Amino acid sequence: MNGQKETSIKLPKTKITSGKLDALMLTETPTKITVKKINFYYGKQHVLKDISINIRGQKVTALIGPSGCGKSTLLRTFNRMNDLIPHVRMEGEVLIDDRNIYHKETDVVELRRKVGMVFQKSTPFPKSIYDNVAYGLKIIGVKDKNLVNQIVEKSLHRAALWDEVKDNLGKSAMALSGGQQQRLCIARALAVGPEVLLMDEPCSALDPGATAKVEELIFELKNDYTIAIVTHNMQQAARVSDFTVFLYLGELVEFGSTDKMFTVPKDKRTEEYLTGKFG
Ligand SMILES: Nc1ncnc2c1ncn2[C@@H]1O[C@H](COP(=O)(O)OP(=O)(O)OP(=O)(O)O)[C@@H](O)[C@H]1O
Ligand SMILES: [Mg+2]
Repeated sequence: MNGQKETSIKLPKTKITSGKLDALMLTETPTKITVKKINFYYGKQHVLKDISINIRGQKVTALIGPSGCGKSTLLRTFNRMNDLIPHVRMEGEVLIDDRNIYHKETDVVELRRKVGMVFQKSTPFPKSIYDNVAYGLKIIGVKDKNLVNQIVEKSLHRAALWDEVKDNLGKSAMALSGGQQQRLCIARALAVGPEVLLMDEPCSALDPGATAKVEELIFELKNDYTIAIVTHNMQQAARVSDFTVFLYLGELVEFGSTDKMFTVPKDKRTEEYLTGKFG
C-alpha cells in the first residue's frame, strides 16, 4: 500500500430510497429542452393542451400514447418542423439551452442542424451512401474534401454502419436494407453535429434484428446527445428510455422516470395504457 494511509469512503448517513434516487435523477441531470405551457392547434382542432416538460440532456426521453394523441406534433415543436404545416397555431415556449427557439430572430436552419430528426420511414436520397451522409455538410458550406471524408467516416462509425458499408461508399443508398437505411439516416443527421436527436417511430418499419441494432445505437448515442423518441412499442420505451412522457388526447397525463412509470404508474390511464387495455 506504499505506506499510504488508506482513506475511507464516507457513505451518506441518510439512506437513499428509490423514491429519493428518482427525485435526484429528476433534479440533478441538466435540462436541455424546456417545454412551457404549449397549446397547439391545427385550424380549430386543439391537439396539445398546456404541455410543460423538462427534457434532460444526455438522456433518452420516450413519448408514448395512443394514435392521434399528439406525440409527433409535440416532437416537431422541438425543432419547429410544424412551421412547415399551413393553418397551425402554437402558444407557449420551447427553450433549448434556455433560449426560446420560437424567438423571431432564431435561425431555423441552424436550429434544425442542432436538433436533428429521424423519421419512421427511412428517407435516404437516391444518391450514394457517401453523398447521403455528406449532404448536410454541403448545405452548411463545408467544402474541404478531407474534412468531409473524415466526418462521413466518423458519422457512419457512430451510426454503427461503417463496417457494413466501408467498401461500398459509392453504392446507391437505395440498395441497403431497411435497417441499414435507417442507420444511414441517423449517420446523415449526425454528420452536421447536432446536440439533440428527435426520432419519430424510427423502428416501426424494421424487423426485430434491425430494431435491436437501432436500439443499441440509441443507447450508445445518449452519452453524447439528448434523444427524444416517439414509440408505440412499450417494450422499446422500457428498454431504451430514461424518462417517459405519456400523452392522452393531447394532455400530459404523466411524466417521470421510465422505471418508475412502468412499475408504479401514478395515473390509472397510464396503467391501463401500459397494460394494453387501450391504445
Ligand atoms: N398536418 C396536419 N393537419 C391537420 N391535422 C393534423 C395534422 N397532423 C396531425 N393532425 C391531427 O392532430 C392530432 C395529433 O396528431 P399526431 O400526428 O401528433 O399524433 P400521434 O400521437 O403522433 O399519432 P400516431 O401515433 O398515429 O402517429 C390528430 O388528431 C391528427 O389527426
Ligand atoms: Mg405520430
